[in-house]
Amino acid sequence: MTAKKIITVFGATGAQGGGLARSILADPGGPFAVRAVTRNAGSDAAKALASAGAQVVAADVDDAASVTRALDGAYGAFFVTFFWAHFSPEKELAEARIMAEAARKAGVEHAVWSTLEDSRRFIPLSDDRMPTLMGKYKVPHFDAKGEADQFFRDAGVPTTFLLTSFYWDNLIHFGMHPQRGEDGVLGFVLPMGDRKLPSIAAEDIGRCTHGLFKRHDLVGKTVGIAGEHLSGAEMAAALGRALGETVRHLAVTPGQYRGFGFPGADDLGNMFQFNHDFSDEFRAARSIEFSRSLNPGLQDFETWLSRNAARIPRS
Ligand SMILES: NC(=O)c1ccc[n+]([C@@H]2O[C@H](COP(=O)([O-])OP(=O)(O)OC[C@H]3O[C@@H](n4cnc5c(N)ncnc54)[C@H](OP(=O)(O)O)[C@@H]3O)[C@@H](O)[C@H]2O)c1
Repeated sequence: MTAKKIITVFGATGAQGGGLARSILADPGGPFAVRAVTRNAGSDAAKALASAGAQVVAADVDDAASVTRALDGAYGAFFVTFFWAHFSPEKELAEARIMAEAARKAGVEHAVWSTLEDSRRFIPLSDDRMPTLMGKYKVPHFDAKGEADQFFRDAGVPTTFLLTSFYWDNLIHFGMHPQRGEDGVLGFVLPMGDRKLPSIAAEDIGRCTHGLFKRHDLVGKTVGIAGEHLSGAEMAAALGRALGETVRHLAVTPGQYRGFGFPGADDLGNMFQFNHDFSDEFRAARSIEFSRSLNPGLQDFETWLSRNAARIPRS
């Protein structure tokens, strides 16, 4: 029997990495084995991965030595950073630098880096259509990831750069669920006017990434994935059908969204404005057909809703 190729999965107890770990574990006849990285091997999520057949190892992406150890003997690695855990692009940059350097040292043959566009390539800081944030970013949680692509290139790590999309799971976990207005009707906020937003089930990011590890020809390439491109009106209509009551699209402006004032509202307001203003480029980078070629079970929004609508809060 040929030994399986180890894929070290960062964020394995979370959304993107969890989807990848589960996808590989669901394919026991396939070429890969999962090494799941967590800071806490005793958590329920880590124990579930171990009992499904993953090797669970402890590492913290802020601790370079632990990241290097987690990559020892690995064929591949999935790298993701966790902006919303700390709201710091500088921390994301430092973590990505640690990952790239550790992958170089370990001789990883295929890395997948979960990245996003550096919006400053499209909107220079001098462009005042949206505010500059934290001194040198337009969309901090995009810009640091895009800037970090260069660390993997400079380190000579064989990397596929994966442009992800807005998760539908944000409707469950990220406070983006429909909210009831004063008239009692549910409203779904998406500050995109009538433009379509590429979006995806978080689980499918992992499944597409599994497909990428079978495509060594995509090393050195930037690829993008989405389950569907949808306008706010289309999402609201689908939500209405799934929830069995009217959901209205609330097309607030990005400026109004920035003013909502919750932590990260300015970053997300700029993100939606960026997705709106550069919709053609953003959508062209995320082909559904390509995503389905990596992951034949790719869900569209209706399918995801049929499985998850009951978990969406309505307040
Ligand atoms: N929400 C969206 O629509 C969306 C879309 C595209 C991209 N993104 C990006 O996705 C990224 C987050 O990925 P995700 O949603 O998969 O994360 P997640 O579900 O929040 O999972 C994060 C997991 O990573 C682990 N983790 C956190 N800090 C760590 C550290 N310092 N060292 C090692 N492990 C750590 C945690 O596991 P343990 O507690 O077990 O260690 C946690 O379970 C963000 O940077 C965000 O910008 C989000």
